[in-house]
Amino acid sequence: MSRLKFYEYKKVEENLKPELLRGLKESPKHISPKFFYDKTGSLLFDEITNLPEYYPTEKEISILKEHIGEICEIIGENSALIEYGGANLRKISIILDHCKGISCYIPIDISTIYMQSSVNQLLKQYEQLTIMAISADFTKSIKIPDIEKFSRRTVLFLGSSIGNFEPQELLHFLMNAYETIEEGDCLIIGADLRKEPAILNRAYNDSKGVTAAFNLNLITRINREFDSELSMKSFRHFAYYNDKEGRIEMYLKVLNDIVANIGGEQIAFRRNELIHTENSYKFTIEGFSDLVKKAGFKVGKVWTDNEKFYSVFVIVK
Ligand code: AVI
Repeated sequence: MSRLKFYEYKKVEENLKPELLRGLKESPKHISPKFFYDKTGSLLFDEITNLPEYYPTEKEISILKEHIGEICEIIGENSALIEYGGANLRKISIILDHCKGISCYIPIDISTIYMQSSVNQLLKQYEQLTIMAISADFTKSIKIPDIEKFSRRTVLFLGSSIGNFEPQELLHFLMNAYETIEEGDCLIIGADLRKEPAILNRAYNDSKGVTAAFNLNLITRINREFDSELSMKSFRHFAYYNDKEGRIEMYLKVLNDIVANIGGEQIAFRRNELIHTENSYKFTIEGFSDLVKKAGFKVGKVWTDNEKFYSVFVIVK
């Protein structure tokens, strides 16, 4: 029997194009962060996670390693491990190496190409592992086939991707996740914590310029999707920590006036205009605990690193 089942819920990529154009026609202009993750963007994001300034990855890995025994207990036997936005191979390998009760690994991701390559790698690396890969937009409610047949379901949502939701969206996301699992099942969620702004500003303005390339790749994507001819030289990466809102704000700054034909529409870009591309919220332990309770969960465990830069929450239905 095949160890891989692949479900493509809908042609995610096709539905995204009108949304991209709509954001460019609005004032202020904005592009949803989900557009970052084409093939190049996914590779650049992988590179970001290995940068010394981008501390969340190392911090999260150290927390997962320290608590791997407890994580395996939570996952239990005959269980389904669902990962939203999977899979970062370094992180998932820690869990798959140790927790032997996983009957099926279920990554759910919007980027089919990115998921396919990590899934192939995992099938080679773990000869007993069964995978059900789902290509879907996990911000919407998702029905996972036959999920009831497992004794337990554990959802992983790592990398502080929760920080890329607006607070109201995050609440809806958690409420959807609540519906996906059964009484007693858990979610394991990584949440980046508030800290000194200089550390945060460095993490999103790295010295090698990888984050800048990741942000500017949106221009390449617009040109590819719409056959347009925006010059990369007309845009610059701009990111800063907004302490009042508790979030990194990321933009593409327009460097000169441009009028471009995008998808059959004349779009004007003004010098110094900011195109919003991402918010990355940073949390307090109390603030995030309150939110998960609002969604119906109980807070099980909260693990942090020594410096309290990063946290991993176990929340229980
Ligand atoms: C995916 N997400 C959690 C990253 C973040 O930190 O918000 C995306 C990212 N943007 C710039 N650097 C990394």
